[in-house]
Amino acid sequence: MREEFLDGELTDDAEADIESGLRPRSLDEFIGQPRLREHLDIVLEAARRRGQSVDHLLFAGPPGLGKTTLAGIIAHDMGVSLHVTSGPALERAGDLAAILTKLGDGDVLFIDEIHRLPRAVEEILYPAMEDFQLDIVVGKGPAATSIRLTMAPFTLVGATTRTGMITGPLRDRFGFVARLEYYTPDELTAIVLRAASILNVSIDDDGAIEIARRSRGTPRIANRLLRRVRDFAEVRADGRITSGVAADGLEVFGVDHLGLDRSDRAVLDALCSRFNGGPVGLSTLAIAVSEQPETVEDVHEPFLIQQGLISRTPRGRIALDAAYRHLNHEPPDRPANLFDGQ
Ligand SMILES: Nc1ncnc2c1ncn2[C@@H]1O[C@H](COP(=O)(O)OP(=O)(O)OP(=O)(O)O)[C@@H](O)[C@H]1O
Ligand SMILES: [Mg+2]
Repeated sequence: MREEFLDGELTDDAEADIESGLRPRSLDEFIGQPRLREHLDIVLEAARRRGQSVDHLLFAGPPGLGKTTLAGIIAHDMGVSLHVTSGPALERAGDLAAILTKLGDGDVLFIDEIHRLPRAVEEILYPAMEDFQLDIVVGKGPAATSIRLTMAPFTLVGATTRTGMITGPLRDRFGFVARLEYYTPDELTAIVLRAASILNVSIDDDGAIEIARRSRGTPRIANRLLRRVRDFAEVRADGRITSGVAADGLEVFGVDHLGLDRSDRAVLDALCSRFNGGPVGLSTLAIAVSEQPETVEDVHEPFLIQQGLISRTPRGRIALDAAYRHLNHEPPDRPANLFDGQ
């Protein structure tokens, strides 16, 4: 169970409850992403002054960086209700129509994994986003007629781990598209200290820094590691998280000094050892580590790329020298420009 928690998937209702308790509620409480925060502050203030609903927003970025949190913040700061759904949950056009007709004036509709919205559902979203019009087909076959309903203005907040998979027409209908970046160690330290005070965990600054450094730039992982280290501190130490206790605890849970967990290292190891550094295709690599290609692409790769450990080329994934060094292997002797221009 423990390891699944570290991998970034929510496996447990209790975990989900703790997570929602740690969500910042307003933009003022939100740590990091300074540019995005400033833009949002302006967009929200302008909408408030005009007395209008906020323009539709799309958030892109790896899991756990705060997309759902931001949707909640927008609803909270605008004083409206938040309605949550996801691309895969909306199987038919009627599923979305049912939600749209329930929205109150200015409400926020959050659609997670919006890149997985079926085409037919996406199409009823276009007039809804553009003109707050809903086209509903009544009846079947030649007798079918279409009724047009006008809805209250609302704000669509879409979240995706894949901007590349959003269709052009959908993307163009968002007034604001933002990419969430990995958090800096300082920002994560502040996030860990905030979570520790909410959860009543005893921790010193160096303990928080140690957890932050190993959180893969991701607040969800920072919060999760904090809870695992708290367990360790209570069972194996005196309950207080210092940098030594944090380092020992994270070691026990298989998180290394860069924050890579066992699955991240499995990807690196397969690439370096089994495929001689690549290039290797995504699906072959995913099979080698018994993961879904999407998991490798959305969860593992972005951070490994950001850390300069691997790279994507048109011919596949390659290991960079830093990957070998991280695994304590000698980098292979090959010309530095071997993969250039491919
Ligand atoms: N800027 C932040 N400050 C403090 N805590 C944060 C911040 N961003 C996210 N968190 C914490 O991280 C957790 C995960 O955030 P959230 O669920 O919003 O991520 P997400 O981007 O929606 O992830 P996914 O793509 O997996 O749905 C939240 O429980 C929240 O406590
Ligand atoms: Mg989310």
